Amino acid sequence: MPKMDFFIPILLFSLLLPIGHGGHGSPPTEYRHTLSELSQEKTLHCTSLPPTERLLCELEGALDAQGRPATANKLNPLLPPFPSNKKSCKFRRHNVYALYPYSMPPSPALNRVLEKYDDMHRRCREVDSDASLNRVYPSSRRPTCQYLIWRQSRYGFGNRLLSLISSFLYAIMSARVLLIEYPNWDDLFCEPFSGSSIQLQAATRLNQLLGESYVRFRDAGCGPGGKSQNSPCNTTVVNFMLDHTTPERDYEAITCPMGFARLRETPFITIRRSNQYFVPGFYLNPVLSPLLDVLFPQRNAFHLLSRFLLTPSDGMWSSISSQLDVHASRRIGVQVREFRTRRYLSEYDGNVIQCIKKKGGFLPKQFRKHGDRGGEYVGVYMATLIRRHLKEVNSSMRVLEKEAGRKFRLKFQRLDGREEHDFRHQAEAMVDMWVLSMSHVLVTSQESTFGYIAAGLSGGFPYFIDKEAGKGCFMGLGVEPCFHAAPKNLSCVREEAAAFTLQDLVKTTSKVKVCSDRQSGWTVLPAH
Ligand SMILES: *[C@@H]1O[C@H](CO)[C@@H](O)[C@H](O)[C@H]1NC(C)=O
Ligand SMILES: *[C@@H]1O[C@H](CO)[C@@H](O)[C@H](O)[C@H]1NC(C)=O
Ligand SMILES: *[C@@H]1O[C@H](CO)[C@@H](O)[C@H](O)[C@H]1NC(C)=O
Repeated sequence: MPKMDFFIPILLFSLLLPIGHGGHGSPPTEYRHTLSELSQEKTLHCTSLPPTERLLCELEGALDAQGRPATANKLNPLLPPFPSNKKSCKFRRHNVYALYPYSMPPSPALNRVLEKYDDMHRRCREVDSDASLNRVYPSSRRPTCQYLIWRQSRYGFGNRLLSLISSFLYAIMSARVLLIEYPNWDDLFCEPFSGSSIQLQAATRLNQLLGESYVRFRDAGCGPGGKSQNSPCNTTVVNFMLDHTTPERDYEAITCPMGFARLRETPFITIRRSNQYFVPGFYLNPVLSPLLDVLFPQRNAFHLLSRFLLTPSDGMWSSISSQLDVHASRRIGVQVREFRTRRYLSEYDGNVIQCIKKKGGFLPKQFRKHGDRGGEYVGVYMATLIRRHLKEVNSSMRVLEKEAGRKFRLKFQRLDGREEHDFRHQAEAMVDMWVLSMSHVLVTSQESTFGYIAAGLSGGFPYFIDKEAGKGCFMGLGVEPCFHAAPKNLSCVREEAAAFTLQDLVKTTSKVKVCSDRQSGWTVLPAH
């Protein structure tokens, strides 16, 4: 159901400025103007449809256009299909999502788009073999399809996944094949694409670190008024760094219509240093926002895309299920993390217990008609690097048991207390995130990417632990992660059809707000 404010950005912008006709060289005012020339040809027939259907038709047309060049292509019949472990993925086969209390289904529109994306991925991996990509990258020749190459950064596991999901959404909306360089991928996750492979093979030029000769987005200077008058960027490779140190201007490619469109003919985009959840930036882009409303009517992009892209491997699922308390009548997940100090802070424990008491959904003993049915208990799973929290919370739980007349059982992983990014530590973090995500009540630390992932996977609102003693916790604004390094001062002015500042847009939109746990960040609010 499109809501009224779905149309507001379009109306707003058509009132502000005369709309250009949107052909090549004109600033984009509609989604289709941001697509490559090849895609535009394939989406001409969509123009007569009503707005919502048109957007979907254009996106599907763009996905279909990739890997089907106008000139009949010589598919190499000798290429073996990619070895795919999609079928053997137990997490998918066992329908583990039935264990999720707040699971939300994808819209039919998203299902169709993901199906088309999946087909595109396989088709393009067949048309552009790794060897042929190797030859064209980077040169002035073009591959058949367009690509987004994502590389694992040196940042933590949570940051990596936030950036990867954001990049996946970028890849979908720009009809690009997502390829990643992530050496531990197969140990952690199942292959998301059928008959294809998300991973770059080890020995290609594509996964080598780019040197100075590769254009960074803000130096690419394409588009009207740029170095190459009236044309989109035709550099072969444009390199992005989207982290907390990146100059705000680099986020133009996410938040500004022209910034996004400028790269429509660039065959390779690389995201090699990113630790941000930049999806709220897409929601602020007036040209992309209506499309997002069609794909994610509940504004839960992380929830739905993570379920497609981040399916635990069989090995990881076995570790996760060994920690998951499936017999508990209620599961409470607690994640405690001290950011600033990395030392034990006692006020957190008190707040955690207070939070469980208030938000756990337990009636005090005197209000309950019957005692507990035999063997019933509440399972508390705790993720923390500091052991002292386990001890303190456990002993407070004994007091709570008496008050609430319920049994509580505590589970946790035995960790070495260090935060590192090798395979073992990633696997441990992943177990914690996924076990937490299956909780009925989720209590997490503020500003923690770890907690964001658990909440996003879960689909339920998290409770954030207050930093002040005695304050308990407060509910998050929604299920979407916070974009920590939000480019708050960025204005979309360079060659845009309608100039605007993001800050002003955040004041008027009902879709994006300042995060409740971080004033400098932005988050996407759920649709009501
Ligand atoms: C685009 O690329 C082609 C081929 O490399 C080149 O001949 C042309 O000058 C480029 N156009 C612009 C505007 O840079
Ligand atoms: C929690 O407390 C119970 C009861 O005192 C004890 O049996 C259990 O071992 C404790 N667990 C932890 C992790 O300290
Ligand atoms: C944003 O602009 C304000 C006012 O011009 C300035 O004080 C602030 O430092 C800027 N913030 C960033 C992150 O650039």
